Amino acid sequence: MTNKLSTDPYKGVRDFYPEDMAVQRYMFDVWRMTAEHFGFEAYDASVLEPAELYRSKTSEEIINEQTYTFTDRGDREVTLRPEMTPTVARMVAGRRRELTFPVRWYSIPNLFRYERMQRGRLREHWQLNCDIFGVDDVSADIEILLLANEIFKNFGAENGTHYAIYVSSRKLLEVLYDTLDLDTQARTAATRLSDRKNKMGADEFKAKMQLICGGATADVLTFLNADNIDVVPEAVKESDAYTELQTLIATMKETGTPVAFDPTIIRGFDYYTGIVFEVVDLHPENNRAMMGGGRYDNLTGLFGGEPIPGIGFGFGDVTLRDFLISHELMTTDITSPQLAVLPTDTENNVAAQKLAQNFRNAGISTSVDLSPKKVGKKIANAGAQFIDYALVLGEDEIASGTYTVKDLLEGSELSGTLQELIDQLSNNG
Ligand code: HAM
Repeated sequence: MTNKLSTDPYKGVRDFYPEDMAVQRYMFDVWRMTAEHFGFEAYDASVLEPAELYRSKTSEEIINEQTYTFTDRGDREVTLRPEMTPTVARMVAGRRRELTFPVRWYSIPNLFRYERMQRGRLREHWQLNCDIFGVDDVSADIEILLLANEIFKNFGAENGTHYAIYVSSRKLLEVLYDTLDLDTQARTAATRLSDRKNKMGADEFKAKMQLICGGATADVLTFLNADNIDVVPEAVKESDAYTELQTLIATMKETGTPVAFDPTIIRGFDYYTGIVFEVVDLHPENNRAMMGGGRYDNLTGLFGGEPIPGIGFGFGDVTLRDFLISHELMTTDITSPQLAVLPTDTENNVAAQKLAQNFRNAGISTSVDLSPKKVGKKIANAGAQFIDYALVLGEDEIASGTYTVKDLLEGSELSGTLQELIDQLSNNG
């Protein structure tokens, strides 16, 4: 005897039953609508990428522990994309001569990471990616943050009540390291450790930083503990990076979109070079970033030629779903047909299908219940599927060409010929 197969999906990925699909569609619709409202164009790519795309500039954690990588039949190393940024950089670099810059692109890819699963973390998730290429100025960073905020607004969420935006700057961190004369190795180690600051106690963090930075530890800690851009060390304030971050924070405030300075926002990816940010869910059950991004001015350089500056973010569907449910902001529009044609007997199925086709041709979405169930049961099922109207089709209706349509919500009825009903249903939306 063979073992029965499990009906469970592969570990860490989801099936999307119609009710889940309705939620997903709602979220994607708001994402697409807002991105396009900001003048972003859609792009897409395959989930398969050559493994080498991620080797030099993605995060160490993702490369060493989280990629799904395999060797194909032609002996190539292939990775299921764990993020979209290297892909979009590859695509922009590949068409650098043809494209008109600045480029504003968005996509909603599914991404794969072999993660330890927990709330908000799965092995396949979808992520809205919005990126601008070709603007070497803080105005693009501001534009990206305005878009990020607008998306939340379009979900009915309020900045400061439901979510908060935190910003920092990799460039500013480099300025700090310059003032402390840290070598490249110490910089990389200190940055990676800082990225994990919230995952350990203060004493452990300090002890580890001491091993990396020695005498400079106190200054690094002062910087990382600053809760306001005004209190960073004076030497750091004399830099372009500081002026840039200050401009960003002030401009965002003027536009009514406050963002707060948080020097512990590092972002794990090695490609970030400037402003970095995260949008955090303020609900106590969801202490996670929903969105993260930043400026990466050298990534396209991997493909040769002058690097094209880039800035963008990724916004995850799993964390967004938790956010909308926790804050009671979820509204879904379950798509169901407008009309169900219900033959009284399976002998009438073909007549029902022909009739349904006429309604569909007139633009009315129509399903047919082809089962042998009793008609009362069919009406109840149509109601449970949120179908608006039911048309029961028996011998009398077929012979007379006159039909009765029942409004399943109101309980009222309409009668008439096919054309009369089409007219009325079309008017009722
Ligand atoms: P990321 O911070 O790795 O950034 O991901 C962005 C968001 O995707 C996270 O804040 C989180 O909501 C969601 N996310 C990430 N991993 C998972 C997971 N395993 N399960 C569920 N949700 C997840 C990036 O990926 C950058 N490439 C974003 C970017 C675009 N930077 C510039 N442009």
